[in-house]
Amino acid sequence: MTVPVLTIDGPSGAGKGTVSRAVAKQLGWHYLDSGSIYRSLAIAVTQAGVDLLKLRQICEIAYAMELEFECGAELVVRLNGVDVSANLCTETTGNAASIIAAYPEVREVLLQKQKDFQQLPGLVADGRDMGSVVFPDAKFKVYLTASAEERGLRRYKQLIEKGIDANLIQITKEILARDQRDSERTTAPLTVPQGAYYLDSSSLTIQQVIEAVINLVRAD
Ligand code: DC
Repeated sequence: MTVPVLTIDGPSGAGKGTVSRAVAKQLGWHYLDSGSIYRSLAIAVTQAGVDLLKLRQICEIAYAMELEFECGAELVVRLNGVDVSANLCTETTGNAASIIAAYPEVREVLLQKQKDFQQLPGLVADGRDMGSVVFPDAKFKVYLTASAEERGLRRYKQLIEKGIDANLIQITKEILARDQRDSERTTAPLTVPQGAYYLDSSSLTIQQVIEAVINLVRAD
């Protein structure tokens, strides 16, 4: 039996994580936060003191790392048995993740780790290349985006709520730089997958976005 997959791709800060988690919960499906795999690798590489230019060493770390995900109200990620959730959402980790994610060799190593999440009764997969590369045959595909200003503001509020110091102008600049890096890389760039439902959430509430995505699946 084919396991149904719903892919939700889009740029940083578009609300993919919140929407994907809520949709997975309502459908009773598994959830893959592929960004957290790249982020965990960025943490592992930084902890090992390896330069982001040292491709061979980064690939070795990617092969060897063991990840466990616990999907409760908040996502808990254990890297080689150690809870790294607190470090996962920082801008430093996100930027390092975006840099190492541009290496085709790194993406190849992480490909199977992502495919393994496709299990019954279904999977909601969030990322940049879920509908284009990792699950090209997914039954449902969504491309979720919002303006860079709106995404910057959302990220800023998230960080402030978590008690993390943040600068709105700096965050918006970093978001634009990350968009450019994620879209212009040669391997698996951020793109609207063929057949994807394009959803601009700039003027929608998170609840409206969740409903639109659920309706897409239930209408089938
Ligand atoms: O979604 P995120 O912000 O947690 O992702 C962090 C970085 O990881 C992002 O800038 C690019 C990379 N990434 C990727 O290249 N492919 C994915 N499927 C998910 C994330």
